[in-house]
Amino acid sequence: MRIDIITVSPELIKSPFEHSIIKRAIDKQLVEVHFHNLRDYAVNRYGKIDDYQFGGGAGMVLMIEPIDKCLTELFAARKYDDVIYMTPDAQRLDQQCANQLSTAENLIILTGHYKGVDQRIRDAYITKEISIGDYVLSGGELAAAVLCDAVIRLIPGVLGDETSALTDSFQDNLLAPPVYTRPADYKGMKVPDILLTGDFARIDIWRHEQSIKRTQEIRPDLL
Ligand code: ADE
Repeated sequence: MRIDIITVSPELIKSPFEHSIIKRAIDKQLVEVHFHNLRDYAVNRYGKIDDYQFGGGAGMVLMIEPIDKCLTELFAARKYDDVIYMTPDAQRLDQQCANQLSTAENLIILTGHYKGVDQRIRDAYITKEISIGDYVLSGGELAAAVLCDAVIRLIPGVLGDETSALTDSFQDNLLAPPVYTRPADYKGMKVPDILLTGDFARIDIWRHEQSIKRTQEIRPDLL
């Protein structure tokens, strides 16, 4: 997979790609991530990329021209499965969306800033708009990093244990069951006996029951 991220602040978004599972995925060449600084496509030599909104109102809007120039360059180089815009006024990201995007070959992610981007970019080029939750961040960069993390870990070969993404919360619309490790008894706080029996068929049933119980308690809307 190749991901091209268009941003006003490449430095803000780079760090999550330099650590842990995402870094390993990049090192193993399972994913390539390229950052494009919108200022490199500015409309003048002062680096102008935003302007006041027509009709008045507070906040600057990212201009159509720099984004169009950057997208045109990328489109000339390869075909993209989706051009995603990170914005709070969109469908919320969920596991199903991450699963679907994890099968893509090439993705573009555009991150907004200030009041957002000129609507004509959204109308003409964006194929998917994604929010990571019902709250407003200062920009789309952190949201893009969240999306990339959720998607990249699902690419086959990224997680060491291939089954581990399948047992994540949400993969079957249930929250994950509780997990424990050694010691089995810490200051009188004991691990459930069932997990120490070695009876894996019964353990599977117990885990499923725990998933349902947790989901009922914490996220009944998922059931
Ligand atoms: N940009 C600002 N807030 C956002 C959010 N909640 N999700 C995606 N992009 C955003």
